[in-house]
Amino acid sequence: MAYTRKDVSTLTRGERRRFVKALLEIKRRGEYDEFVRTHIEFYTSDGEKGLRTAHMAPSFLPWHRQFLLELERALRRVDSSVTVPYWDWTKNRRATSVPWTDDLLGGTGRRSDRRVTTGPFAYAEGNWILRENLTDEEFLTRDLGRPRDPIELPTGGDLEWALNDPVYDTSPWDSTSRKGFRNKLEGWGSGRGSSSWRNHNRVHRWVGGAMVGGASVNDPVFWMVHSFIDLQWTRWQRRHGARYLPARPPAPGHPQRGRVVARHQKLPPWDVTPDQLEDVSRIYRYA
Ligand code: CU
Ligand code: CU
Repeated sequence: MAYTRKDVSTLTRGERRRFVKALLEIKRRGEYDEFVRTHIEFYTSDGEKGLRTAHMAPSFLPWHRQFLLELERALRRVDSSVTVPYWDWTKNRRATSVPWTDDLLGGTGRRSDRRVTTGPFAYAEGNWILRENLTDEEFLTRDLGRPRDPIELPTGGDLEWALNDPVYDTSPWDSTSRKGFRNKLEGWGSGRGSSSWRNHNRVHRWVGGAMVGGASVNDPVFWMVHSFIDLQWTRWQRRHGARYLPARPPAPGHPQRGRVVARHQKLPPWDVTPDQLEDVSRIYRYA
């Protein structure tokens, strides 16, 4: 039986508690830090050599879909009632809205060093010490909305702009692709400053702190953000009935050959292809 991923604003008190408890338990077991490590390891950008799987590439969506499934499996080994909720930032738009409450993820960071001091993931609680990071910081940081240099969350209109594109992705299959649902949703735009951050990327920037960069998994909101992004892929499929691209690897001599994953190619680090991840309706659905 497929399980359901819910809008985080609809979770009951008990559901919130069980979700947080399961996260803290896999953190205690050391499993959580493996997810952080994997994300850091697969954070390859356009400018680097080699295969790009997780970001700036067509497989941005299936890679994070599989990544979420793995996390969800780990959580459900602890408590089989838990699923990864999604945060709909087109509706819950304030720094004090869900999920930034004391019984879920806690709030923004303090002014001096952006350290999160409220909720279950506050450093002083002792249950959320960052062990895999790009800096030496051991505490979770956030800067919700960046009050000193304000940035707005993307809107429903921004999502529509991505969802309306009938093509999954286009050459050059990277962060400079002007058309295609994938890059419009991942959110690498042209221009300078915060106007160049769209949809998914803009949400990472809005949260700030740990959520900026390869170690973003250290903030558990990562999963709620990617659950909502994953839901958009499902919506897009329903709207257009279209498929993942590229269907085949780029031709010999194409600069993207060996740098992107085609529909039937394996998606490292897993033994799964984008094609196999297009329909997950037997595993979970969204409420
Ligand atoms: Cu990522
Ligand atoms: Cu992300």
